[in-house]
Amino acid sequence: MQIGFIGTGTISAAVIEGLQSLPEAPEIVVSPRSESTSLALAAKFRNVSRAGSNAEVARADIVFLGMRPAHLDEAMAGISFDKGQIVASMVAGFGLAEIKARWPQATACRFVPLPGIARGVGPMATYPAVPEIVRLMAPLGDLFVAADERRLQFGGLSAFMSSYFELQRALIDVGTGAGLSETEARSYVVSLLGMLADTARHTPAQSFDGLAAEHQTRGGLNERVRAELLEKGWFDVPGAALQATTGLGYKTLG
Ligand SMILES: NC(=O)c1ccc[n+]([C@@H]2O[C@H](COP(=O)([O-])OP(=O)(O)OC[C@H]3O[C@@H](n4cnc5c(N)ncnc54)[C@H](OP(=O)(O)O)[C@@H]3O)[C@@H](O)[C@H]2O)c1
Repeated sequence: MQIGFIGTGTISAAVIEGLQSLPEAPEIVVSPRSESTSLALAAKFRNVSRAGSNAEVARADIVFLGMRPAHLDEAMAGISFDKGQIVASMVAGFGLAEIKARWPQATACRFVPLPGIARGVGPMATYPAVPEIVRLMAPLGDLFVAADERRLQFGGLSAFMSSYFELQRALIDVGTGAGLSETEARSYVVSLLGMLADTARHTPAQSFDGLAAEHQTRGGLNERVRAELLEKGWFDVPGAALQATTGLGYKTLG
């Protein structure tokens, strides 16, 4: 079985890294753009080869689409798929109905990986459950099979990644502003956030809602900061911003 990637950018590279870490790493063929990424992947992994064109990749048994929405039409112009081929689109906003309308012969699904897939960690989502895709990806992190397409984006939660790092940067800046060196502040913040994520991971469902209260002393520092942020409506802002992303079609996205 050969797996193809059309659009060999950041996320395709992460998925390929993950797949190549499997004990039985699959044969992969990648489209030639981005030149530096596709060349690097082919040089790094014995089972990865760089095709001469997108059309060549489109002959693989499973074809992942990994270009930005704005490049979809150009990248896939003139490309068709046969019955028996699987098209797994990672392109944001490219709906299942649009995929099926374009390539009615193929088996279609959407797949939303996140960068941690390169190291086999973190969430990813797919819809509908195409058995070959589920089997392939399940070892590479926490695979969520969405109950319907509307829920594939998990309410927009995957769009929180860069904001998370922006928040991390703001916290580091608090540290350096208080006189810590960049290295000290960064190490502290990374350790703090890592500890909190690890605590959440090890907390059973019945105790989950108590985490915030458990991490503050009555009248103490954490309680004061949380109360101030709650009063400012700070926690309502991400919900609205994330939710707004879920209805965007690929023609709106860049
Ligand atoms: N990054 C994430 O965490 C993430 C997660 C889930 C889903 N996605 C989705 O995955 C897609 C790619 O995101 P990304 O962050 O990986 O973007 P990216 O790094 O910009 O990768 C896009 C790739 O598509 C290539 N490309 C552009 N036009 C092409 C064409 N005509 N034929 C073949 N390849 C072409 C680009 O090549 P050049 O560099 O040569 O232009 C680039 O290698 C997006 O639709 C995004 O919504 C991303």
